[in-house]
Amino acid sequence: MITYSDLGKLKSFSMLKKEKKENVKDLLTADRVKNSSIALGGGLKYNWAAMPVSENILSGLQALSDEAQLIDKYKEILSGKVMNTGEKRLVLHHLTRGNVLGAEVAADGEDKDQFYKDVLASIKDFSEKVRNGEIKGSTGKAFTTVCQIGIGGSDLGPRALYLALKGWAEGSGVKTLEGRFISNVDPDDAASVISDLDPETTLFILVSKSGTTQETLTNRDLVLKTLGSMGIQGYNPSKHMVAVTSKTSPLAKDESMLASFFIDDYIGGRYSSTSAVGGVVLSLAYGYDTFRKLLDGAHEEDCLSLGKDIRKNGALMDALIGFYLRNIAGYPATAILPYSQALSRFPAHLQQLDMESNGKHVNRNGEKIDYPTGPVIFGEPGTNGQHSFYQLLHQGTDIVPLQFIGFRECQYGKDIETAGSMSQTKLNANLAAQIAAFARGKDDENPNKEFDGNRPSSLIYGDKLTPEALGALLAHYENKVMFQGFIWNLNSFDQEGVQLGKVLAKKVLAGCEGDDLLKAYADLLI
Ligand code: F6P
Repeated sequence: MITYSDLGKLKSFSMLKKEKKENVKDLLTADRVKNSSIALGGGLKYNWAAMPVSENILSGLQALSDEAQLIDKYKEILSGKVMNTGEKRLVLHHLTRGNVLGAEVAADGEDKDQFYKDVLASIKDFSEKVRNGEIKGSTGKAFTTVCQIGIGGSDLGPRALYLALKGWAEGSGVKTLEGRFISNVDPDDAASVISDLDPETTLFILVSKSGTTQETLTNRDLVLKTLGSMGIQGYNPSKHMVAVTSKTSPLAKDESMLASFFIDDYIGGRYSSTSAVGGVVLSLAYGYDTFRKLLDGAHEEDCLSLGKDIRKNGALMDALIGFYLRNIAGYPATAILPYSQALSRFPAHLQQLDMESNGKHVNRNGEKIDYPTGPVIFGEPGTNGQHSFYQLLHQGTDIVPLQFIGFRECQYGKDIETAGSMSQTKLNANLAAQIAAFARGKDDENPNKEFDGNRPSSLIYGDKLTPEALGALLAHYENKVMFQGFIWNLNSFDQEGVQLGKVLAKKVLAGCEGDDLLKAYADLLI
């Protein structure tokens, strides 16, 4: 039987706490670097050599994984059990890229595998017709730009993935429709995007699972009104907008849309990049085949995540080491540091994925827990980060575990040699140097120039950031966050913590309803 219990009740956790703490400095050797990689799918590998985990600690983490039944719990998700306990929902994002267990998952009287396959077929059909010019704008011009309107999971993942594949598409000769994104309710966000767009050749994708999100509906109205009032002859804004939403949302009934694509309540916003939420924009921008490759990479990693041996399951190992760093070493944050400009928005996506999933203070039964849960996530692409916050990472008084990501090849294929090396080589020389610098540190008589070292890091690496690699990278982090949620006995699939601010914002818009404090702040701004 599968049991869900809080961390404090696990025997393996008490044992692990007694294990000798290790210094990265003492553990890290060239052999350890060579022998500490795990395949992730999509040609990627996860290397944990520079983490403070000895053989004994790894055995303790394996024992914890077994005792907490992490793989069995993953199988419960895959088989369609109600794992979103707060909202009483299934958690089916894995099924959007493939059926890992191969068994039927049914809900609401339908085969969910078939439902997602049907949605994919409609995305394929529509995106091909737009890309080959069969479906045109209202004034007869072919679409050249797609602009997604959405926020949170309806923006961050899709935007990060779109940006991640731009250079790959150009370098591989894949036809691209330009992608733009409007998310913030700040009118300057929409204004700056609209000012660059040609309305006649732009297709908007309105994305909201709930169909009730204030920012997204406001931006929809703003876009429709602005474009409708431009006086372009024959221009019909509703022939320039498609919707991605759930069947139960108010948007699903909007018949003015050129087309609608559906998700269901079993795909959480931050886990929705591989559903129609990411699929429509990515298939329009880069073609359905590219999106399918991304799904295949994610599916490969989902299958690899089933292994019980932590030394062969990268997502599980990453989750367990992250747990060790948080709950035994006591580190409060994690930095995501991709040495790839293409991944410039990937840390922002992981902020939502990780912090909205595991930034929780109650367990799956709604009871308060007494141990730390998800860390603060932040990051920037290297080498830009090096010239910014790395000072604190190297010499600050807090230790921040680091997650590096790097690729041997660039995407555009436009690299040249200067000063004796290619830019890509310089980029990766910096990455290799940083890992060693953080781990080993440097002695110096002058304390200001001394580096303590012992800064733990991991590295995800591969040949090139392709759609398959990107899918595997995405799934790796989704599965890591899922495993950590199991360890902490959290419901990683709801987000009650974002509600209070939304309610109070509505109250402010309604005149503050006698709330003096709220009114005092509102008066400073409105
Ligand atoms: O406010 C948080 C949130 O519910 C996220 O979880 C979600 O990704 C985002 O809002 C957008 O929601 P929707 O797709 O329903 O507009």
